[in-house]
Amino acid sequence: MPPTRNSDALVLFGATGDLAYRKIFPALQALIRRGQLETPIVAVGKETWGIERLRERVLDSIREFGDDTERRSRDSLLGRLQFVHGDYRDGETFTRLGEVLRDTQCPLHYLAIPPSLFGVVIQGLHAGGDCAKARVVVEKPFGRDLKSAQELNAVLRARFAEPSIFRIDHYLGKESVQNLLYFRFANTFLEPIWNRHYVDSVTISMMESFGVEGRGRFYEEVGAIRDVVQNHLLQVVAHVAMEPPTSNAVDSLRDEKIKVLRSVRSSTGRSLIRGQYLGYREEPGVAADSSVETFAAMQLHVDSWRWADVPFFVRAGKCLADTATEVLVTLKRPPQTVFKEALSAHADHFRFRLGPDRVAIALGARVKKPGIEMVGQQLELYVSNESEDEMSAYERLIGDALRGDPSLFTREDAVLESWRIVDPLLELSTELHAYERGTWGPAAADGLGRPLLALPPPDSSGA
Ligand code: BG6
Repeated sequence: MPPTRNSDALVLFGATGDLAYRKIFPALQALIRRGQLETPIVAVGKETWGIERLRERVLDSIREFGDDTERRSRDSLLGRLQFVHGDYRDGETFTRLGEVLRDTQCPLHYLAIPPSLFGVVIQGLHAGGDCAKARVVVEKPFGRDLKSAQELNAVLRARFAEPSIFRIDHYLGKESVQNLLYFRFANTFLEPIWNRHYVDSVTISMMESFGVEGRGRFYEEVGAIRDVVQNHLLQVVAHVAMEPPTSNAVDSLRDEKIKVLRSVRSSTGRSLIRGQYLGYREEPGVAADSSVETFAAMQLHVDSWRWADVPFFVRAGKCLADTATEVLVTLKRPPQTVFKEALSAHADHFRFRLGPDRVAIALGARVKKPGIEMVGQQLELYVSNESEDEMSAYERLIGDALRGDPSLFTREDAVLESWRIVDPLLELSTELHAYERGTWGPAAADGLGRPLLALPPPDSSGA
C-alpha cells in the first residue's frame, strides 16, 4: 500500500439523515473513545439548524444507539462538531465549506446522502476547489444499474483518484464477515471439502423481521435486490467462494473476490422469486400500486473449477419471522446409506451466523443417540465468539477511510461486476408474490435453498 496520511477533517453530508443518526454518530463516538479520531467533524445539511440543534440530534443518537454513559467520548464528539448549512445545489454552500476547511490538508468527505445527489455534491466539491487533496466515502447503492454505476464512476474518477475513493459496503466491515474469511484461510481442515465434490449447496439468507422503518421513499427507489443483494450478499458469496489470496496485500484479496464475481452466472426467470409483504403499500412514501420487491430469492451459479454445478441460493426479505443473516453450506450425503434412519435427516452443514448479534460458526452433524439402537440425532457443534467491545462495521470502516486504507472498500471493478450480475434480474418481469408479515416469505420461494436456522442456536456459547 502506498504511504498514506491521516485525514485531518471529517465532512459529513447527510448529517441530519437516518444513517448518520443510527450508525455514523455512534461509530464516531466509538472511534473517539479508542483514540482513533481527533479531527474536527463538519456536518453539512440543508436544514436551517444551528449548532445547538445539531448537538441535540447527536445526543439523541448517542442515547439511542451509542454509549451515553461514556461521557468523555460523547462530550468530545459534541465539542468537535461544526455545522455548515446550505443546499447542495448552491455553490455558496461549498464556498462556506471551503472556508471552514481552509487549513486542512486531507479532508474526508462522507456522502451519506441519496444516490441521486452524489453527482451534485461531487461537482460542488470540485467547484469549491476541494477535490485534489481530499478523500470521498460513497454510500451504497452505488448507482441503480450497470449504466448508472459506470456514469457515477466517471463523475468520481474525473475528480478523485481511485485510491481516494472509498465505496462503502458496511458488510465488509462486519466482524462476522471478516471471521468468515479468517476461518476459511487460517485453517486447513476446510480446504479438502470446500468444493463441488463435497458441497451440495450454499444458502445465504438475510432475513429481517422489520419493515422499511420510515425509509419508504428510499426503498421505493431500490427494492430488496438493489438494497442488499447487489452489494452485501454478493460480497458474502465472494467470501464463501473465493480462492485464497496470495498475500494480505490490499489488492490481493480484492483480486480474488473479483474473480468470483466474474464467474457468477445470473439467475434465470424460473429461479428468481420476488415478494412484497402485505401492508408495504401503506407505508409512508410508498406508492399505492408499488411493484417494488421487499423479498427476493434466487439461484446463482459460480462457474469455476471449484464450484461448477453447486447452486448458490441467495435470499433476502423484510417483515419475516425472524432477523438473522446466515450462510449455510450444506455438505453432500455419504455415498452409502449405512444407517437407514439417517436418510430422511438433514445432511451435514457449516453454518455461519453473520448477525445480528450472536455471531457464530456451527458444524451440523448426525450423532448417535445414546441407547441400544443405532439411531441418530442432528446436533451442532456451536462456537460463539462474542466480545464485550466489538467494533461496529461503521466504526471500523470510517477509521480505515480516515487512515486512507481501502482494503475493506469495494473496488470499481467489483461494483460494476455486481451490477452485471444483478441487471438481468432487475429486467426480468417476474411475478410479485404477496406474503404475510411474520412468515418466511412467499411459499413459491420454498424450493430455493434450505431454510434459515437449521437448528436453533443453544442458549449458551460453547460446544
Ligand atoms: C442496509 C440496508 O444496507 O443494511 C437495510 O439498506 C438493511 O435495508 C441493513 O436493513 C442491514 O444491515 P445490518 O448490518 O443490520 O445487517
